[in-house]
This record gives sequence, structure tokens and C-alpha cells, in this order.
Amino acid sequence: MAISDSTREQLQQLAARYPRPRSALMPMLHLMQSLEGEVTPDGIAACADVVGVSAAEATAVASFYTMYKRQPVGEHHIGVCVNTGCGLLGGDAVYEALCERLGVGHNAATEDGKFWLERIECQAACTHAPVMTVDWEYMDDVTPAAAVDVVDRLARGEEVRSTRGPVIRGFQATERSLVFPDDGLASEGTPVDAKMLAGLTVAKERGMSAPGIPAAGQEG
Ligand code: FES
Repeated sequence: MAISDSTREQLQQLAARYPRPRSALMPMLHLMQSLEGEVTPDGIAACADVVGVSAAEATAVASFYTMYKRQPVGEHHIGVCVNTGCGLLGGDAVYEALCERLGVGHNAATEDGKFWLERIECQAACTHAPVMTVDWEYMDDVTPAAAVDVVDRLARGEEVRSTRGPVIRGFQATERSLVFPDDGLASEGTPVDAKMLAGLTVAKERGMSAPGIPAAGQEG
């Protein structure tokens, strides 16, 4: 798809954020995903052109990081953490239930273009394992039945919220927030709860503290 003047202008704005324009390559690729729902060869070439690297170098970045998709993702990205913590607590069963309901496997889109399913790595949310993400919003302590219910409600066009509060807005909208985080949404929901702070709470109750860091040359 041809890259519009408006898109090129936004790419240039991103490049201007950094002392070295090539540092903007990753947000630029997210911008292309927010506009096109995927990273296309034309999009990669436009990013490369603006930051002054070859299309091959930009493609190397786009193909290395799993958050960049070179096929259309569709309306919603569904991630299921299957790393050790989540896997042991039911993440594998959640993933299997979603495979069955959506009729797709890892890194694939449903035929109707509604969902993209992916096994994902640890989301640093292990206190609420097993964890599923919808457009990178958390669904904590998810069960197979709850996961299927989420995709069913999204498929019916109902409003769905993350278990931490924010409304699920769609893959492309989230991608835009990753590029332009000053959209006023950062403080939505409850990012920290008592379960996440349990270790700190116990440490405080018992008067525990971390050992000091030895001065240089005094290690061991
Ligand atoms: S292991 Fe799943 S969030 Fe950490």
C-alpha cells in the first residue's frame, strides 16, 4: 500500500524525537501496525527511508521482534502466556481452549479477521498467572472458560474490560498508544493490587530489608 504524506509526516515526527533518527525505528514499526494492522514491505521501506537505513536493516528489526506482524492481525490480538508460571497454573489449558474455539493455532488469524492467537512469553504478571492478554491488556487469573467467554463477547461486539479496568479498544488502537502514550489512558484501571504487593507487605511487617550494596572493591 502506498504510504501517504500524512504517514510520512508522522514518521518524521517520530524520527525527530531522538538524537539519532534510527532510534525511532521501533516506534515507527508500531505506527505502521496502528495504521495498517500489520507491517508491510512498503511500510518497512518507508521507515527505513526516513531514518536512513537500508530496507534490509529495517526488515531485520521487524522480523526479529515478535510484536511486529507481517500478516494482518485482525481486530484483536489474543496472547496466552505459556511460560513456566502460567503454564503450570493452567496457561496451556487456556491456550488449548482458545485454539478449539477460534479454530487456529499459534501466530495465526481467524478467517473472519477478528482474532489473532499467539502463545506469548512471560508478561511480568506472574502474580496473576495464568495470564491472557487482549490487545496487550491483561486478563488476570484466567480460566479456559473465562478466556472463551472473552473472545465470544468480543465476537458479539460487546464491551469487554481488562480485569485491571481498561476497555479493550482493538489491536490498532493499542498500537497507536504504544507510539503516542500521551493519550490520557495511562492512569486508567488498577495496575497494582494487594496480591502484587504481598511480598513487600510481609517484608515490611517483619522489618526485613535488602542487604546493602558493597562499595566498589569490597565485593565478596
Ligand atoms: S509466567 Fe506468565 S506472566 Fe510470567
